[in-house]
Amino acid sequence: MSDAPLLRLRALEQVFDTKKGPVAAVGGVDLEVKAGKVLCLVGESGCGKTTTARAAAGITRPTAGAVEFRGKSLTDMTPGEKTAYRRAVQYIHQDPYAALNPTRTVASTLTAGLKRHGLVKNRTEARAKAAELLTLVDLTPPESYLDSYPHQLSGGQRQRVNVARSLAMNPELLICDESTSMLDVSIRVSLLNTLGRLRDDLDVGFLFITHDLAVAKYFAWDGEIAVMYLGKVVEHGPTPEVIGNPQHPYTKALIGAVCEPDPDLARANRSSEQLRSAEIPSLTDLPAGCAFHPRCPAFEPGVCDSTEPALEGTGAAGGRRRVACHIVARDQRRESVQHAQSRDDRTLVLDPNKSPGAAWSA
Ligand SMILES: Nc1ncnc2c1ncn2[C@@H]1O[C@H](COP(=O)(O)OP(=O)(O)OP(=O)(O)O)[C@@H](O)[C@H]1O
Ligand SMILES: [Mg+2]
Repeated sequence: MSDAPLLRLRALEQVFDTKKGPVAAVGGVDLEVKAGKVLCLVGESGCGKTTTARAAAGITRPTAGAVEFRGKSLTDMTPGEKTAYRRAVQYIHQDPYAALNPTRTVASTLTAGLKRHGLVKNRTEARAKAAELLTLVDLTPPESYLDSYPHQLSGGQRQRVNVARSLAMNPELLICDESTSMLDVSIRVSLLNTLGRLRDDLDVGFLFITHDLAVAKYFAWDGEIAVMYLGKVVEHGPTPEVIGNPQHPYTKALIGAVCEPDPDLARANRSSEQLRSAEIPSLTDLPAGCAFHPRCPAFEPGVCDSTEPALEGTGAAGGRRRVACHIVARDQRRESVQHAQSRDDRTLVLDPNKSPGAAWSA
């Protein structure tokens, strides 16, 4: 079996033509989701999360770059491979109300895809499968829900029906776009627990989108977080590292804005500084250099406003930690020079073949 990630986004770009000019909603995103793993995409409203997710789900065609599923670009897929991809990758919308057809019962909603793909032989088999799916998403006993219409269900129950519908296709990847954000807190936690069980039991991978870092931390603790700002990923790494030791000033600011009494977030919160401006620049008129510089507390003139910082590996977390910040990169370079110097000094002192005096005189 190939060890290609389940989903790979390569230099993904999405530009929308608007009356005000081109809007670079996604400006070159490289990300991967591995089988059975979670990648959480976080960032403020309008930073390009949904646009990225829709391209990843094949709903929209990116302007540039590629979406690959199991190592194959969507544009190179045969019609058969495209059908398999559409079944394997399921997109769950934010709004559980809008996503369901009000005139269909739950059973009818859950079995439509199964019938279309010829995955059930008859009505009895379809109903049994629908009941099984409802049980998977903790809507039990399923008989209480099969003949209900969406308006007879609560928001949380509707979203569970949406999840059940996507599971009908035996997906390998669920793309959840703020799928829990419209729900009350207790219902949200319960749905997150159900999704977590599906992740662990069915080995489903997740591209999980949220603007809520507490939710990201809860759901993606064993996975990774990518922080987006104005269409670009500015920080990426294993969740405990990003939450516990944020590097990018924007990630620090996001964590600083969390008011939930979470000890990890509160710890990182203390290190955050005041933003220079609350205003988010327009995508049609992006600032030169680092797009975050007009708001960044670490801003240095001549450095941050001249060139755009690349998303670079920091060397931490086995190379899985990446940050796009000139100041972070410079501090790290300084640290590694100091580290190398102190190591050289130690070697000189500890080398048994050279006395310190001989080493210095060499
Ligand atoms: N079809 C479109 N035409 C023009 N601009 C668009 C279109 N879709 C999205 N945009 C713009 O692209 C940017 C990114 O939008 P997107 O919906 O991806 O953000 P988001 O991170 O999902 O935000 P939210 O947290 O509010 O859902 C926004 O400025 C949005 O206005
Ligand atoms: Mg969105």
